[in-house]
Amino acid sequence: MERVHNFCAGPCTLPVSVLEELAAELPNYGNSGMSLIEMSHRAALYDEVHMETLQLLRQLTAAPDDFSIQLLQGGASLQFAMVPMNLLANDAEAGYVVSGTWGKKAYADAAKVGKAYSAWSGADGNFTSMPSVEQLDLRDGSRYLHITSNETIGGIRMPDFYDIGVPMVADMSSDYLSRPIPWEKFDLVYGGAQKNLGPAGMAVVFVRKSVIEAAPEGLPAYLSFATHDAADSLANTPPMFTIWATNKVLKWMQDHGGVEGMQRRAADRSSRIYDAVESSGGFYRSPVDSNHRSHMNIVFRLRSEDKEPVFVSEAAANGLENLAGHRSVGGIRASVYNALPDESVSALVDFMAEFAARHG
Ligand SMILES: Cc1ncc(COP(=O)(O)O)c(C=O)c1O
Repeated sequence: MERVHNFCAGPCTLPVSVLEELAAELPNYGNSGMSLIEMSHRAALYDEVHMETLQLLRQLTAAPDDFSIQLLQGGASLQFAMVPMNLLANDAEAGYVVSGTWGKKAYADAAKVGKAYSAWSGADGNFTSMPSVEQLDLRDGSRYLHITSNETIGGIRMPDFYDIGVPMVADMSSDYLSRPIPWEKFDLVYGGAQKNLGPAGMAVVFVRKSVIEAAPEGLPAYLSFATHDAADSLANTPPMFTIWATNKVLKWMQDHGGVEGMQRRAADRSSRIYDAVESSGGFYRSPVDSNHRSHMNIVFRLRSEDKEPVFVSEAAANGLENLAGHRSVGGIRASVYNALPDESVSALVDFMAEFAARHG
């Protein structure tokens, strides 16, 4: 079967080689007579995959040993609550950069379970840029500053991570493992798996061990990072299929230049699409501040917005799927996550030129 060019924002396209391996290994894993997802999560065969996945994550991200790596259910959304529950002990407060839909959700949940304030909001600018360090309104004694390194819906990214003397917490759901993480600046980094890492079903959380030790007592077991640190993310039944598939995606990334390779790829591919927008004589336009354009989610509009649905449906008819912008903002969004083949970017750029010639 022909595969389409899949620009989905998440869940997203995965390497074909990974899908083929999963399919081949599924019915009888390691000669056990059963699939990996049917065996006990305490079985030696599963344990090997689980522990190797944690190790691959550490190698690829160069996370220091004093970070606990955790594979948790509930996606990135559960972290919106779990992070402040664990980090905001003793009336501490945290600043939130409200840079778009996801920053807003993280802030809203934090304010429900602890003391959180907005250190900046992009609402006035319709969430088309990220704040400079000078624009941050960071209160003295803040426990952490929460950022969303890439806003998946608005298509904006933080080009650099701040030097602010306050530990940062980052939601990196949509640019995970596509850029290096300067660990000394962070107490915690989290993200859902279903973009650059694998299928949906878990969040990957990196949390500094000293943070775990300082967490408040009495948290419900699953909501405490201490529980998962002590059990290597095997305190309960983990999302075994997602972890298995992620294991294979991580090895694929290693074979394709690791995080640095992914970073170069993302910069090249996104700039090819932005160039197609900029060189279209105004047929296409980017609503996003040029210094903050995402390397993962490329958002653009047509001069005639009423032609956007035509663009999306004609693209789909040509095998380019999932190009409609998020339902809350409209427009076009091409997500070019790590596993998207280069040919898909070429097909999109060609289609954009051809569509503009026909409708311009
Ligand atoms: C930046 C960002 N944060 C959080 C989420 C929510 O992730 P999940 O669906 O894993 O809860 C998403 C989902 O697209 C996202 O893009």
